Amino acid sequence: MIVAIDGPAGSGKSTTARRIAEEIGFVYIDTGAMYRAVTLAVLRNATPITDNTLADLIARTTVELQRTASGQRTLLNGEDVSERIRMPDVTAHVSAVSANGIVRNAMVRQQRALGDVGNVLMDGRDIGTAVFPHADLKIFLVASVETRAARRLRELAVQGIESSFEEMCADIARRDALDSERAISPLRKADDAIEIDTSALTIEEQVAEIIRLIRTK
Ligand code: DC
Repeated sequence: MIVAIDGPAGSGKSTTARRIAEEIGFVYIDTGAMYRAVTLAVLRNATPITDNTLADLIARTTVELQRTASGQRTLLNGEDVSERIRMPDVTAHVSAVSANGIVRNAMVRQQRALGDVGNVLMDGRDIGTAVFPHADLKIFLVASVETRAARRLRELAVQGIESSFEEMCADIARRDALDSERAISPLRKADDAIEIDTSALTIEEQVAEIIRLIRTK
């Protein structure tokens, strides 16, 4: 079974998907981590973002998602970059890199192959619309900008990174616009996706509701 969980930044996709996967024994695949790893490669190579430089970079870059006892790890050319890819410099550039067709083609090909492993929960922006348009169940998570900004601030605080609420709201709104206005596979709810507004829900409630939908399916 393939379950697609899409939604904007900070809507709770990854926390929710990770918990569900643990509870029902599905494999969790965080596709945002893949785009973040490619973005880190771009930043490290000081590459101007053009089709040619990105094609060249993609050809000599490997991105792997590894399952370990402590959760999913993201490897860039064999190096564990799981924490590094959450840093603000990567976040600031990931929308531009992930809008590129060459990057998306390479990642989508890899994501489809990852979907072959069995029961999979994949989260991202275009899983239900482009990667797996025939997914067994599609969930589209939404939440207000303010709710999402507050969540991101809490996550960053745990890592010792400070930011203001206003800055975070502006950043989330900017990423929403970039992700949903891009030409290729924009963030969009699939026609057959079930929308869940998580603004007033706890993680436990979100998890329970989606598990119920999976079991019904
Ligand atoms: O979920 P996240 O914030 O880690 O995702 C990082 C970025 O990657 C996000 O701004 C949009 C992009 N992304 C995408 O374009 N398609 C996906 N399937 C997943 C993420």
